[in-house]
Amino acid sequence: MNASSTALPGGTWALGDSTVTRFGYGAMQLAGPWVMGPPADREGALAVLREAVAAGITHIDTSVAYGPRVTNALIHEALHPYQESLFIATKVGANRDAQGGWPTARRPEDLHKQIHETLQTLGVETLDLVNMRMGDAQGPKPGSLTESFETLVELQRNGVVRHLGVSNVTAEQVAEARGIAPIVCVQNGYNLAHRHDDDLIDRLAADGIAYVPFFPLGGFTPLQSEALTAVAARLEAMPMSVALAWLLQRSPNILLIPGTSSTAHLRENIAGAGLALSDDDVAELERIGR
Ligand SMILES: NC(=O)c1ccc[n+]([C@@H]2O[C@H](COP(=O)([O-])OP(=O)(O)OC[C@H]3O[C@@H](n4cnc5c(N)ncnc54)[C@H](OP(=O)(O)O)[C@@H]3O)[C@@H](O)[C@H]2O)c1
Repeated sequence: MNASSTALPGGTWALGDSTVTRFGYGAMQLAGPWVMGPPADREGALAVLREAVAAGITHIDTSVAYGPRVTNALIHEALHPYQESLFIATKVGANRDAQGGWPTARRPEDLHKQIHETLQTLGVETLDLVNMRMGDAQGPKPGSLTESFETLVELQRNGVVRHLGVSNVTAEQVAEARGIAPIVCVQNGYNLAHRHDDDLIDRLAADGIAYVPFFPLGGFTPLQSEALTAVAARLEAMPMSVALAWLLQRSPNILLIPGTSSTAHLRENIAGAGLALSDDDVAELERIGR
């Protein structure tokens, strides 16, 4: 499943019938402050997207809620017509309000509207992957996802969506979705310091399902820890590189979608994620999340 036919760290992974690089890119940070409005540096944002694809990245994560519509429009402008190999993952389940909040929007009519806007802004007729996003900004919340997920399953049957995933979900919701239709990935918050999904990751790996951590670098609160700084200093590497390398080594089903609005950080992350961590390094890093 992971034939390493890419120069990018981590090799590749099969997401359904598509092969993607395990080193991907998350587009959320390209919108304005707090993911609202246009970027301060529009040309810089387009340059990051073009450089990501030029570096060989074939997995980009976005959502029509980012901006809203801003990151999809940037992706379209920078990269359309899309290379055959490019896999664009999207998500539905929330709108944006005037204050920058993320009110949930998961009724069938809400989802149809979001899917329509996603198709329109990305300029495609079929979406590679749609994640059904549950929970709220604080994380997953218990409750049934059946009505929402079945709406996406119907869109998949109609050929509008190729692959399905779930996001910001509990292990119970993952099982509920899998009881309805196959999923290719789970996208949840996870990094060196937030290890709630350790068991879930291992179970998904055994079943060949990808786990795509959002906030791999800590998101709006960048990862900071003495152990991370110490390991990075010992390896003469950047702490963010160590955090990404640890995720790639943690499990073969983990796909990276680190966000950045800077080509310098993009380059640094690509170069650094291939760092080989020794057992001692990993043991020291593992103490962060305990
Ligand atoms: N499903 C969901 O509910 C959900 C929620 C949140 C996010 N996501 C997805 O997950 C992706 C990743 O999450 P994220 O972007 O919020 O968080 P992240 O990848 O953990 O961190 C991004 C932050 O790290 C900084 N950064 C990146 N590389 C760096 C480097 N080498 N040195 C120093 N700082 C660096 C970025 O700043 P610079 O711009 O200055 O580089 C940015 O502020 C998003 O883009 C989005 O696609 C999904």
